[in-house]
Amino acid sequence: MILLRGKEPIMKKRTPAYALWSLALVAVVGVLALSACGGSGVKPAATSKAPTPAAPQSFPGVTSVADIKLPAQWASKFPEEVQTFEADTQPLQPVQSYLKIFPFLSTIYAGSPFAKSYDTPRPHLDALQDAKNSPRISAASDSVCYACKSSQYTISEQNGQSLAKVPFAAEVHTVTQGITCYDCHKNYPGPGSQTASAANGTYLGAIRTPFLTAFAKEIKSGQMQPGNAACGQCHNEYYFDPKTGDATMPPEMTDPFEIYAYYNKIGYSDFTNPNTGAHMLKAQHPEYDLVASDTSMHATAGLNCADCHMEQTSDGKTSHKLTGPLYSAQIRKTVCLTCHSGTDAQLVALIKSSLASYMAQITTDGNALATFTNNLAAANKSGKYTAAQLDPIREQERESQWFLDFIMNENSKGLHNPTMATKCLTHSLQVTQAGEAALAKLPK
Ligand code: HEC
Ligand code: HEC
Ligand code: HEC
Ligand code: HEC
Repeated sequence: MILLRGKEPIMKKRTPAYALWSLALVAVVGVLALSACGGSGVKPAATSKAPTPAAPQSFPGVTSVADIKLPAQWASKFPEEVQTFEADTQPLQPVQSYLKIFPFLSTIYAGSPFAKSYDTPRPHLDALQDAKNSPRISAASDSVCYACKSSQYTISEQNGQSLAKVPFAAEVHTVTQGITCYDCHKNYPGPGSQTASAANGTYLGAIRTPFLTAFAKEIKSGQMQPGNAACGQCHNEYYFDPKTGDATMPPEMTDPFEIYAYYNKIGYSDFTNPNTGAHMLKAQHPEYDLVASDTSMHATAGLNCADCHMEQTSDGKTSHKLTGPLYSAQIRKTVCLTCHSGTDAQLVALIKSSLASYMAQITTDGNALATFTNNLAAANKSGKYTAAQLDPIREQERESQWFLDFIMNENSKGLHNPTMATKCLTHSLQVTQAGEAALAKLPK
């Protein structure tokens, strides 16, 4: 049951970013509506208090990695941000293998490096080393895998030297700078990052070209909140551009149904299942995609990644030790319980029960898809059927897997967008069932 307060939000110590952002949108829409009406010649009220997102180009990036300012160089100016950033050393949840949590994965990922190893996430400070240690990395891996682990990749690319197709192993000793302040602030961190970047001469947002390109409209128009852009540049769905080898995002798309149609149109696949012959897709951590396509109250209220994953320190600064609503009583109190009524314990129970229901649905879908995959593999192996007979069924395997994977691989397991999670998981199971029916119709 969802309990909501039918009254004014509780007063907070500091106006949270999401409240300001909603106000700003109202202000902007108001101004547009005024000018659209032709007006009476009255100038719209100044909107100087409205957040102005930073235009990335007004904050030049560095040309050499040596010019990145590191946490130690910010320590005296921003002690709390640096301290909390450096304290982010413990995974939010004990690290587990997804291959154990979801045993069906080894069947549906056959042919993908993810069938070898796939763990729950760990902190940002470990990201670069974790990639270097990953059993998924092989002699065939390219340096594009550094794209979301190090700004060195980005700086190199922006200065005309793409590492995308350079072997991963060749750069192990040169790419050494893990995720740091630069990844979200360039060299311009500072007060007001979230709410008045341009005005304050501070930057918060994406630095990565593929994301800045794919979502240029939202970023330039200020529709995308800085607190979503900073995180979304890595936490999103991408594919490898067949020409450049670079990590690329489907342009202006966050809806998994649209992305699927796009991949079909360009004939993209990530791997081939050797048992069934199907050309498969691998969804990647599409947190941004689900948050951005959310239509629930959470989105309407303008909540962004930082609101739900970064606490405020006692003097109103932003803690850079990432957390989440499940792990932070403070976030539940200052963000969630302004709408949700009931006790903190009831809210925790609501989060856990929602999570459990998505996990159960993922397991049901995954088991059904694994059975279907095995049945299709048997038909394929029998040698009795032509490509014309099996290809449409292979497409059903691809489709079912994509919609399951999109939610399975999304790190909140659907909580970021309950409506879309339900839609995808329902669709996946329906496609599996249609695939089984098509198999059953093949001549024996
Ligand atoms: C430079 C790319 C990048 C950016 C920017 C980024 N992330 Fe991450 N994030 C990662 C990677 C990679 C991992 C997984 C690291 C691992 O498992 O080794 C991760 C892991 C996480 C985790 C799991 C941590 C844990 O201990 O379980 C959370 C939560 C998270 N990120 C939230 C955010 C938020 C919120 C933002 C924006 C404020 C953000 N990320 C920005 C790349 C990024
Ligand atoms: C993963 C992205 C990310 C990284 C990395 C990051 N920040 Fe931030 N930072 C943010 C976000 C998001 C906010 C704004 C939060 C808000 O206003 O709600 C912020 C806000 C700030 C602010 C504004 C004051 C405040 O505390 O709200 C300062 C100063 C700052 N960061 C400094 C740093 C420094 C120094 C580093 C490196 C040690 C760093 N940041 C690394 C995302 C990041
Ligand atoms: C309305 C609140 C809300 C917003 C906005 C939000 N998240 Fe989450 N997020 C959650 C909840 C709830 C969970 C699941 C439990 C938890 O981590 O507290 C979660 C889980 C995660 C996890 C997995 C953490 C783990 O347990 O290892 C990651 C990573 C993550 N979110 C990233 C993001 C990113 C990136 C964005 C922005 C694109 C974002 N979130 C926006 C509420 C939110
Ligand atoms: C602006 C008001 C508002 C805020 C703030 C808010 N919620 Fe919600 N929440 C809602 C409403 C309304 C619903 C029910 C329907 C919907 O999705 O629109 C909901 C639904 C939920 C659900 C059920 C999702 C499902 O599976 O159907 C969970 C879990 C949840 N909220 C957790 C949180 C957490 C955690 C936070 C804080 C990070 C939070 N909410 C903040 C209004 C809010």
